[in-house]
Amino acid sequence: MDQERLLRELSEFLRIPSVSTLPAHNQDCRAAAEWVAAELRRLGCHDVAFLGSETHPVVWGKGPDVPGAPTLLIYGHYDVQPPDPLAEWTTPPFEPTQRDGKLYARGSADDKGQVFCLLKAIDPQNPRVNFRFLIEGEEEYGSKVLFDLLKREPQRVRADAVVVADMSYVAPGWPAVYTTLRGLCYAEITVRTSKTDLHSGEYGGAAPNAHEELARLLTRLKGADGKINIPGLYAAVKRPSKAELAAWKKLPFNEKDFLNKRVQGKGLVGLKKYSVLERLWALPTFEIHGILGGFTGEGAKTVIPAAATAKVSMRLVPNQKLATVQRQLAAAVKRLAPKHVTASVHFLHGADPAQIKVDSLAFRLLDQAFKKVTGRGTVPARAGGSIPVVPALASAGAPVILTGIGIPDDRLHAPNEKLDLKQLWDGIEVFSRFYELLGSQEPGVRSRS
Ligand code: BES
Ligand code: MN
Ligand code: MN
Repeated sequence: MDQERLLRELSEFLRIPSVSTLPAHNQDCRAAAEWVAAELRRLGCHDVAFLGSETHPVVWGKGPDVPGAPTLLIYGHYDVQPPDPLAEWTTPPFEPTQRDGKLYARGSADDKGQVFCLLKAIDPQNPRVNFRFLIEGEEEYGSKVLFDLLKREPQRVRADAVVVADMSYVAPGWPAVYTTLRGLCYAEITVRTSKTDLHSGEYGGAAPNAHEELARLLTRLKGADGKINIPGLYAAVKRPSKAELAAWKKLPFNEKDFLNKRVQGKGLVGLKKYSVLERLWALPTFEIHGILGGFTGEGAKTVIPAAATAKVSMRLVPNQKLATVQRQLAAAVKRLAPKHVTASVHFLHGADPAQIKVDSLAFRLLDQAFKKVTGRGTVPARAGGSIPVVPALASAGAPVILTGIGIPDDRLHAPNEKLDLKQLWDGIEVFSRFYELLGSQEPGVRSRS
């Protein structure tokens, strides 16, 4: 493996600031799509196309062809999350830098580095399987473009297996496949209390304050005990089976280490009667991402803000439905807001949760590949994060393998995101072996287990 060359190429990809949620980066998203397309052409794809959007296209590719071999669809995303707060990065987010065997950059683990791994594991001279690619540019903003595309053209996901490398090992040395992903319901809650801002001396004491009302509303929606007070929300939540909970106890996960090494805070929160893994993997959440409005500039201004908006999201677990949760949240906001307040909810994007059976042949082949390269096979786990299109990728019946090559402390979405290079080199070997194993099967492998 020519590691120097691979690092140069990956760095080129990582230097493109393809932040999908910020319109100022539309050109960059397009450039990242071009980078992926060039790579697919180099691999010998004969049908490379940009689908669904001028600025954040889904990059589609077909080939190289291997007559008589199974078909493998590779899904990934070339967009990244915003890099702020910039001051906390040791080296700038879009100047990939190596330190201690790790490559630091936004997107190194989520998901450009992992897309890179899946692509570089393909030998264009000996591809082994029929490849299809769907590499999208809006995953971090709800995947609307790809959703719509797959609704119009569901045949794009026809394959014997689908592989998604957008997660991580459960712990260093422990590769994993994921049986569930949480869904997501992202919304802005806006509270208005008067027509315009008011002088806090002239009006303070009698006029309502939008920030205060919003704060009260938010703390009513979720109490200090971690319980979400949205009527009906927990009704659909199904507890993991006893066997699954017992299996989690054997995973290399320790609640104290999670607090001290990963959260690096003073204490954990949430529903105390459930284990931390159950809180992370099998229960819905309500998070406040940021609050806008009022006076936050330098200096001091005495004003009663007339409006305030909170960006919030909820994670959903298997058996919950996005449409139901949206209705429940909107109703709860209406019910909890006092009469002197106008409260509204605006939904930005969302996704249903996903549930995946990990017992088909493709999973056993990946397990073998990991065992051979890393010395340990895959353990089944659940994921707390979301990938909106996974239910759609599964809709044609192919097994969807959710896995990853990073480790849990890669700091996705946070400052100093990184990928350990050893994980990348191992990952390339794992997937080239997986393609080889899959290629030695007959097409239609998915129907056999
Ligand atoms: N790769 C993550 C999803 C993920 C992270 C799954 C960690 C499992 C473990 C993905 O890029 C992501 O961040 N998704 C967003 C989706 C959302 C913006 C619609 C998420 O989970 O917040
Ligand atoms: Mn991702
Ligand atoms: Mn992400």
